[in-house]
Amino acid sequence: MSLLSLEGIVAGYGPDVPILHGVNLHLDAGEIVAIVGPNGAGKSTAMKAAFGLLNIHEGRIRMGDEDVTGKSPESIVRKGVSFVPQTENIFPSLTVQENLELGGYFSPRSHVRAGLERIYTLFPPLRDKRYQKSGCLSGGQRQMVAMGRALMPDPTLMLLDEPTAGLSPKYAEEIFSLVLGINANGTSVLMVEQNARQALMISNRGYVLVDGRNRHEGPGNDLVRDREVAEMFLGG
Ligand SMILES: Nc1ncnc2c1ncn2[C@@H]1O[C@H](COP(=O)(O)OP(=O)(O)OP(=O)(O)O)[C@@H](O)[C@H]1O
Ligand SMILES: [Mg+2]
Repeated sequence: MSLLSLEGIVAGYGPDVPILHGVNLHLDAGEIVAIVGPNGAGKSTAMKAAFGLLNIHEGRIRMGDEDVTGKSPESIVRKGVSFVPQTENIFPSLTVQENLELGGYFSPRSHVRAGLERIYTLFPPLRDKRYQKSGCLSGGQRQMVAMGRALMPDPTLMLLDEPTAGLSPKYAEEIFSLVLGINANGTSVLMVEQNARQALMISNRGYVLVDGRNRHEGPGNDLVRDREVAEMFLGG
């Protein structure tokens, strides 16, 4: 049984005009799964659908043996899922620590303290900057704050939308190795990425979405080696 599955999802931002036209994807416990594809393919939309942010017109979303189709983001969070959106994923006027504490909003005080310690161990630069306004940090460090906030409740599954967007290659590489570390600590990861080749290389499996539909899927390494995928979606 999969940790998360989208089964024939037809969905959009309103009651009509679907953006996803029957998307299927699943993620098993322990996996890193990447969603890649061109701009406007519906990658972020698929992720938002999984987090309860969309109108589902057709299809089912399941977590384990539970049907969560139509459930609110809050109830998805309570099932152990965290979401790091593509943009506006931190509160720039709050300090690093205040941002992280917001991620522990549903947790008891003692868990928040332990959570902060866990995050500062995982992202050492954040410990030094904990009393600084997040808006003053570099792009890479802001992304660490966003990921740290999502990791505060120690989620079973983290949904990461373009964690390396706008980062230098060196910082992007660092974020990918952090994703591997997060996964090694027991959190499954579903990630959308523009740096498709690197994302697929660290993923157990990947999906290529085009025009709101599944186009290719398979083990990350196989997709990277696939000629059509490489030529069409990975820049040759
Ligand atoms: N809030 C919104 N309201 C209405 N339509 C939207 C909204 N967000 C996205 N769309 C539309 O949904 C389609 C898919 O967008 P989506 O953001 O899912 O693409 P994406 O694959 O994540 O692209 P990108 O690589 O640019 O992030 C696009 O046509 C977009 O214009
Ligand atoms: Mg997107």
